[in-house]
Amino acid sequence: MREFYEELVGSHPHMAAYFSQLDLARQVRKLSATLQVLVAFADDRRALGAEVIRLGVAHSRRGIGEAEYGLFATTLADVLARRQTEVPFERARRLWLVELKAIMETMALVDNG
Ligand code: HEM
Repeated sequence: MREFYEELVGSHPHMAAYFSQLDLARQVRKLSATLQVLVAFADDRRALGAEVIRLGVAHSRRGIGEAEYGLFATTLADVLARRQTEVPFERARRLWLVELKAIMETMALVDNG
């Protein structure tokens, strides 16, 4: 996951501002934990609702909205698809994009009021 943040900031330097004050190792742990929860609850999206809204509020307070989510999702889907070998890369990338976009759409709803 550290690779993900390096790639995100490498290809989109303006995204570095959001992460410059953070402990990256801690951020990596949090994102990994969230992704595991996402996978575990993939069949029961409603159970995730409250947690995703809470995350959306936390991000919105930092000025993170749709534009940032878009770059985050495409980079993350790339990295996650590359790390596995069970499913062909393009298919895995598309599956992750669907999952991540669904979550981020809910997170961004908070941002739009
Ligand atoms: C699917 C999308 C995302 C997920 C699942 C996610 C996950 C998380 C989680 C679990 C936290 C910790 C929240 C807490 O402590 O309660 C967090 C915090 C944070 N996220 Fe995200 N995030 C996402 C998108 C983004 C994007 C697009 C950005 C910025 C470009 C971003 C930047 C941050 C920042 C700056 C923090 C605050 C860290 C701190 O102060 O400890 N995140 N994120």
